[in-house]
Amino acid sequence: MRVLFTGGSGKAGRHAIAHLVAQGHRVLNVDRVPLDMAGVDNRIADITDAGQMFDVMHSYAGFDELEPGTGVPGFDAVVHFAAVARLLLTSDNECFRVNTIGTYNVIDAAVKAGVRKIVFASSETTYGVCFANGERKPAYLPLDEDHPTLPEDSYGMSKVVNEVTAQSFQRRSGVDIYGLRINNVIEPHDYARDFPGYCAAPERRLRNFFAYIDARDLGRMVDRCLAVDGLGYQVFNVSNDTHSVATPTSELVRRFYADVPLRSELAEDATFYANAKAKALLGFRPQHDWRDLDLDLP
Ligand SMILES: NC(=O)c1ccc[n+]([C@@H]2O[C@H](COP(=O)([O-])OP(=O)(O)OC[C@H]3O[C@@H](n4cnc5c(N)ncnc54)[C@H](O)[C@@H]3O)[C@@H](O)[C@H]2O)c1
Repeated sequence: MRVLFTGGSGKAGRHAIAHLVAQGHRVLNVDRVPLDMAGVDNRIADITDAGQMFDVMHSYAGFDELEPGTGVPGFDAVVHFAAVARLLLTSDNECFRVNTIGTYNVIDAAVKAGVRKIVFASSETTYGVCFANGERKPAYLPLDEDHPTLPEDSYGMSKVVNEVTAQSFQRRSGVDIYGLRINNVIEPHDYARDFPGYCAAPERRLRNFFAYIDARDLGRMVDRCLAVDGLGYQVFNVSNDTHSVATPTSELVRRFYADVPLRSELAEDATFYANAKAKALLGFRPQHDWRDLDLDLP
């Protein structure tokens, strides 16, 4: 497919783009900073500028596309990752502005350009636990997509607004729009640096429900979203199958979730951040488990 990808120069996007290119997709990256990747052209643009988003939706994806002389081909899909990617980076209101206006502009331009598949990055923070003031417990576990989304911070709020924006565009246009409630993204080099510390102090992972998503598996998830059509508007939790600490699940429940209702039995390494919907509807199969690595654990 011919794919316009926003935010592809960032932590998650560069792995997702690498996976998409490896699957044979043609990708144009739209970001404020370029991505240095063979076969991927960059358009430097700001998602908060509607004119620029309308323009890039009608862009060549490289000089080679000038050759046939048949004009600019249309994009088959848009993957929208560009954002202020957490709280405490900018002022709260700037985070909310960039993320909500940016997402409106990207989806509006995509729909009006006739793009039939849009995938956008939402977040685990929509559930209100990750960036809460103090500890907030989930209403139940495993945490699935039916759990209420009630954040109290501007980043989480922006992602909930984006989900409403996306659902509204889907309703009018009928195109497929899938939102990814991405858990904490882990790049390959993060495992050796961070996971021994997580195992030594599992409470450090409480705000992420002890879950994680390998950046390469996130790329796999995006590819599955491109492959499966006809689901209308959907949101999907995105996480690996296991949790991110060596402590058994039953022990984590005893220490951290004693008063949280458990809706199903969990294996001793199973994630609390349910990815069953992505598996059932998209055939998502994460491949990377930190337990397979030779890490220097405490
Ligand atoms: N990293 C995580 O753990 C995580 C978890 C859940 C959701 N997410 C979401 O996934 C997406 C990607 O996250 P990431 O970790 O790669 O973030 P990142 O900050 O590494 O990358 C974001 C990219 O967006 C670009 N960008 C920011 N503002 C822009 C603008 N106005 N116009 C154009 N480009 C702009 C940045 O230049 C950057 O390359 C984001 O939407 C983020 O909210 C990330």
